[in-house]
Amino acid sequence: MNAAILLTGATGYIGSHTWVELLEAGHQVVGVDNLANSSPLVLDRIRKITGKTPLFVQADLCDRASTERLFQDYRIGATIHFAALKSIGESVAKPLEYYANNLNSLLTLCTAMRDAGVENMVFSSSASVYGDPATLPILEHFPLSASNPYGQTKLIGEQILRDLEQSDPRWKIAYLRYFNPVGAHKSGLIGEDSRGNPDNLMPYIARVAARRSASLPVFGGDYPTADGTGVRDYIHVVDLAKAHLAALDYLQDKQQSLTANIGSGRGYSVLEVIAAYEKASGQRVPYDMAPRRPDDIASCYADPGLAAELLGWRAKENLESICTDSWRWQSQNPGGFAD
Ligand code: NAD
Ligand code: WQD
Repeated sequence: MNAAILLTGATGYIGSHTWVELLEAGHQVVGVDNLANSSPLVLDRIRKITGKTPLFVQADLCDRASTERLFQDYRIGATIHFAALKSIGESVAKPLEYYANNLNSLLTLCTAMRDAGVENMVFSSSASVYGDPATLPILEHFPLSASNPYGQTKLIGEQILRDLEQSDPRWKIAYLRYFNPVGAHKSGLIGEDSRGNPDNLMPYIARVAARRSASLPVFGGDYPTADGTGVRDYIHVVDLAKAHLAALDYLQDKQQSLTANIGSGRGYSVLEVIAAYEKASGQRVPYDMAPRRPDDIASCYADPGLAAELLGWRAKENLESICTDSWRWQSQNPGGFAD
């Protein structure tokens, strides 16, 4: 039997979609999550989609003994490390919790990997490491900075892994910098299960379209963009999931590390996303102009050329299919997995 992929943060939004793609591609997968921000009900949905029973371990990666045990109990060949806390606003309010969770889990995982002789990792980084870029589209060599504790944990996480690579050339890391992951699996069985009022644009729009919130606040109408609202690069979560499979292949075949933007290369404004969502869902999405959100930037979109060149990966979905898939998930699961 081939060695398994250890998927951390496996029951989360991106983790669950990647789990499905890995199983469908024939990989053995061990999923681990402490369920801090996800539901175990996703496991049954993964089984429904793939016809395979997902192998899941509930554990906190900050806990050394449980993390070491994963490598004793299973033959692991590589890890995809999604587990992290990810709300920017919450990270500003609770910096200690964010630094402790996101960095201790990374350190504990890497230590257990080193002790088990597992040196391949795909790391979830973020476009937030580019801060406010001077020019667009964003290339991987642009200067890095972070304006909040969450972004800092990604920057420091990258640095820890680069130091590890320096210390031992057997380590091969794929640093994937995601732009704005959105959408849901085409089955409508898995998607983003936001608890409470979502921070991010698309889940908020979905909530308004479903009449669970009255109106969307549009954070800023005076940015230097075509219609004054913020522009972002929205990437379908299944396209994003597939990038992880391509990165695993790259690590194994080329025996080299890589740092790559994972985005579509196209920017859309908040008003364009609202219009696309209304069209895809057939629902109205009322909105109110609101002040800019602190630390938001005007525009952010990737140059995804390096991912295309090195991984042979590019986004296949578009804003229309993203909105259609998001709405299918939202309308079939109005209360998320709990329904
Ligand atoms: P998510 O919250 O849905 O999934 C993360 C999962 O990690 C959750 O299920 C949570 O319970 C788990 N987790 C957190 N700390 C843990 C710990 N100590 N031990 C075990 N499990 C733990 O988030 P997501 O959107 O799926 O994000 C996945 C990764 O991608 C994260 O690292 C995130 O920072 C990164 N990322 C996300 C976005 C985005 O907008 N969603 C963008 C860029 C990067
Ligand atoms: C998109 C646009 C908002 C909500 C963040 C992180 C990034 C990554 C994804 C983790 C912006 C506007 C939003 C709302 C709005 N996460 N907006 N009303 O801020 O681009 O990216 O999440 O790594 O690193 O920075 O995503 O979806 O919050 O915002 O008008 O209720 O929508 O101002 O222009 P963002 P977002």
